[in-house]
Amino acid sequence: SVRQRVLSGVQPTGNLHLGNYLGAIRNWVEGQSQYDNFLFIADLHAVTLPHNPAELAKNTYTLAALYLACGLDLTHSTIFVQSHVPAHTELTWLLNCITPLNWLTDMIQFKEKAVKQGENVGVGLLDYPVLMASDILLYEPDKVPVGEDQKQHLELTRDIVNRFNYLFAKPDQPVLKLPEPLIRKEGARVMSLTDGTKKMSKSDPSELSRINLLDSADEIAKKIKKCKTDPTRGLEFDNPERPESNNLLTLYMLLSGKTKEEVTTECQDMGWGQFKPLLTETVINALKPIQEKYQAIMDDRGYLESVLRHGKHKAEAVANQTLAKVKAAMGY
Ligand code: ADP
Ligand code: TRP
Repeated sequence: SVRQRVLSGVQPTGNLHLGNYLGAIRNWVEGQSQYDNFLFIADLHAVTLPHNPAELAKNTYTLAALYLACGLDLTHSTIFVQSHVPAHTELTWLLNCITPLNWLTDMIQFKEKAVKQGENVGVGLLDYPVLMASDILLYEPDKVPVGEDQKQHLELTRDIVNRFNYLFAKPDQPVLKLPEPLIRKEGARVMSLTDGTKKMSKSDPSELSRINLLDSADEIAKKIKKCKTDPTRGLEFDNPERPESNNLLTLYMLLSGKTKEEVTTECQDMGWGQFKPLLTETVINALKPIQEKYQAIMDDRGYLESVLRHGKHKAEAVANQTLAKVKAAMGY
């Protein structure tokens, strides 16, 4: 195909929030027809922290349904579950053996998550970026769209490619292909509603800090009503002293489809009391079609299973070819 290939994934670790949507899935949907897309559910990554087996199965299907509800379609995108394609784990082992340990102990996300786990840090948490590199490299993508927080993992993936090719490929015939990260500025970092200096995250203990894609209108209204603001009059983008103002205006801009200039003109003289209802209505209206489509898909489990079976076959056809090349280069 002449179209560039895109690969990305999200972990099925709970409810998706606006950060996941605006930082990841919506960008996949917008670029969808332009690229050849491989989009998966990272269920092997989801067990790098303690997990509940029943929740894992449920969340995997929920996330697949949300992918479709957000607008991914099967003509442009291959949608599959990571654990359905065994090549991911097999390549991980091979790449483990050429990845220096200190590259992994240096990862910011590992350090942050490991601190929280204390003595219960599994080897999988450390190895997570090598699994991620395998996810990517099997499909030889041109672009990997992710949020800002995954940038370091993409750099590690590139380091692994260079090391692998240096060790096992002829200079002019690389075995693994170097991927490029695709990090959009707008929406790349949606901030928490209760603390404008932290990113919106599933792992934040406060439910009020995030709006989930499946929140009811009442929940959305409540969260926006309670969200943190500041006493300054008027609203503005890009003032480092006013992270809440920037974050909420950005949400309004992204979900209303208006430009930054339009939003600035519309909102610069507004007080919070006027802006909050406007944002509430905009969020509810933007999520409504997604929620309706989600419900219809969840009511047809057979359809969802057939989508994932089809995805597995298409993904395997590509992944197994790359794995075969890697194994041959390593002497298997
Ligand atoms: P979380 O921090 O909520 O656990 P994940 O780490 O599972 O989120 O991220 C899934 C995807 O969503 C990744 O591509 C990530 O970059 C993106 N993402 C997560 N949080 C945000 C955010 N607050 N703003 C923008 N993108 C985000
Ligand atoms: N690590 C990513 C996250 O937590 C999810 C992920 C796993 C991923 N494998 C990937 C993203 C490959 C892009 C490409 O969000």
